Amino acid sequence: MKGKVVLVTGADGGLGTYVTQAFLDAGATVVGTSIKIRPSDFESANFTALAAEISTSAGAKSLVDQVVERFGKLDVVAHTVGGFAGGQSIADTDDATFQRMFDLNLNCVFYILRAAVPLLRNTSGRVIAIGSRAALEPGAGVGAYSASKAAMVSLIRTVAVENKDAGLTANVILPGTMDTPANRKAIPNADISKWVQPASVAKLVVWLAGEAGKDVNGAVIPVYGKDA
Ligand SMILES: NC(=O)c1ccc[n+]([C@@H]2O[C@H](COP(=O)([O-])OP(=O)(O)OC[C@H]3O[C@@H](n4cnc5c(N)ncnc54)[C@H](OP(=O)(O)O)[C@@H]3O)[C@@H](O)[C@H]2O)c1
Repeated sequence: MKGKVVLVTGADGGLGTYVTQAFLDAGATVVGTSIKIRPSDFESANFTALAAEISTSAGAKSLVDQVVERFGKLDVVAHTVGGFAGGQSIADTDDATFQRMFDLNLNCVFYILRAAVPLLRNTSGRVIAIGSRAALEPGAGVGAYSASKAAMVSLIRTVAVENKDAGLTANVILPGTMDTPANRKAIPNADISKWVQPASVAKLVVWLAGEAGKDVNGAVIPVYGKDA
């Protein structure tokens, strides 16, 4: 990945931390973004932290503009930003929860890609987005989350179709429950051996962004762990 400029959204998250480190290990120039990201989050001269709130069009556009101002191009967007809400049936789901799920899981990726796709077309770039198993397999009590992730899958597949003429690829990974610090805290008695390792997902993200991944486009990739 030497010479490639990679934007990782959610770079200090449970998964994003691994994705950012994996791109750095592969030699990429990595811009990591989140609301609270700091330069000291990663010890590498190839890491740049740009804090941004990307659930607004202006925030996402300004972030992408800053990447291009600094590095002159954009090769890869690895989008890990997302959020979860559960425990409410559709009949009980309040407006704020429904809106928050769509802001985090759909609007963020829409705003980032609307700003980034024209640049990615110049570099035969790559988009790798993180959805969720729930996008394809809705469960009781997670309707707003599932619907927002399903909409994200549709959006990514549309980007794949619209930009294949430029050699741009767009794929979405659907993890099952991942072994993150937040999940360990939230579900203390779980059988962690069944969970998906974020390091494995990160390797897949980097593979999709690399030379060998160039022929994979519009894929919706389940990574469900031992619960599959
Ligand atoms: N964890 C799981 O088991 C699991 C399972 C299936 C799918 N997923 C999906 O995988 C992805 C990563 O999950 P995760 O557990 O790593 O999430 P996480 O730890 O909660 O990290 C979320 C990241 O997104 C950033 N973020 C949130 N809202 C933002 C906004 N408005 N603007 C900019 N950055 C924002 C956070 O930034 P700050 O730290 O600055 O707030 C953080 O870096 C998500 O899309 C999630 O839905 C997770």
